[in-house]
Amino acid sequence: MQKNIRNDFPILKNDIIYFDNASTALKPLVVLQSIDDFYTKYTSNAYRGSYFNSEYVSLKIDECRELIATMLNCSSSEIIFTANCTDSINQLVRMLNIKKRDKVICSQLEHHSNILPWLNNSNTLIVNVTTDGIIDLHNLEDLLKNNQIKIVSISALSNVTGNVQPIKEICNISHKYGAIVNLDCCQYVPHYPIDVKKIDCDFITLSAHKMCGPSGLGVIYGKKELLLKCRKNKYGGGMVDRIVDSRNIRYKEIPYCFEAGTPAIENILGFASAVRYYLSIGYDNIMEINKELNDYFYEKIKNSKTIQLLFPISNCHAPIFTFKFKNKNLNLNYVSRILSDSANICVSAGYQCCQPLYNSIKEKGGLRVSLQFYNTKKEIDKFFEVIDNLKI
Ligand SMILES: Cc1ncc(COP(=O)(O)O)c(C=O)c1O
Repeated sequence: MQKNIRNDFPILKNDIIYFDNASTALKPLVVLQSIDDFYTKYTSNAYRGSYFNSEYVSLKIDECRELIATMLNCSSSEIIFTANCTDSINQLVRMLNIKKRDKVICSQLEHHSNILPWLNNSNTLIVNVTTDGIIDLHNLEDLLKNNQIKIVSISALSNVTGNVQPIKEICNISHKYGAIVNLDCCQYVPHYPIDVKKIDCDFITLSAHKMCGPSGLGVIYGKKELLLKCRKNKYGGGMVDRIVDSRNIRYKEIPYCFEAGTPAIENILGFASAVRYYLSIGYDNIMEINKELNDYFYEKIKNSKTIQLLFPISNCHAPIFTFKFKNKNLNLNYVSRILSDSANICVSAGYQCCQPLYNSIKEKGGLRVSLQFYNTKKEIDKFFEVIDNLKI
């Protein structure tokens, strides 16, 4: 199966060992073809023209909304397109009308995109993380009990540690105290399926490019009853039903009232192909392959003489590993460049936009390997062969 999957990704023909999937995932040919199709056959604006191409791409955008809704188990009217996950979270701050005095809970595991929008607009409290690398649910409950918390915004899967958070429990506890929950699922959906009804989360934010889709597209899922109460996050064309006069403006229904401006049509069409591609492989297969890669890499790194993990690995873990060199204070960007120049291996070096997490262990960054279902054990062997024999 893996051999066939690799054939779907044109870039893999270049003999590259791509281990930076948490940064952005590779794109299968079907995604590239959808983008190409839009420009070569259907260029037009969506929701604005009464001619074939425009009506066709409008339908295709709504088809993508349906696909994402099927994937998350929600209604397509609960899916809002944005520019990326960062944009989704910033828009959410405006939609929820967050004020400086409002209390919000995040953790030190958050990507800068899920901490800076809250730090800059609210009174943000930081929940503890246990020594196993997951959210301390007792501390979460204490914070909720002792403060009037408006929103808990937590990443479901850390882009640095790879640990999966107890998202169902986080939602249950937060709802007990009347708080709204946003799950930053940027890293979660590329690895695991999510059923928003079962988890009972209020919002989900994600980026298409992390799950084999194009960059320039993000998503907000929001529970309908909450979206109906949200403020408009921006104003402009495409969101208007009717302007009677300047004091009587009627907006379209959700989700269109949150999508002012021309949508990223080619990216939405490309993402529809990525979602179809994901569903055609099946999350069960993706999880099985990734578990094998995870266990294989974990065994190798535990036995490595050269590198050591920086963060604890919890029971439920996606194949994302961050490490440093034992007994060596190497410039990580330099090492990353050597891996690239000598063996065409791509890894991430630095803080991975999670500086508070590194500050908490007094480290100045790490090297990160993040794997996806198209990676192989052979690539992992090659990586350790190179890293264990680095002459620096
Ligand atoms: C957990 C998490 N949240 C948010 C983001 C931000 O995504 P984007 O840069 O696509 O907006 C990332 C990107 O790495 C991430 O890993």
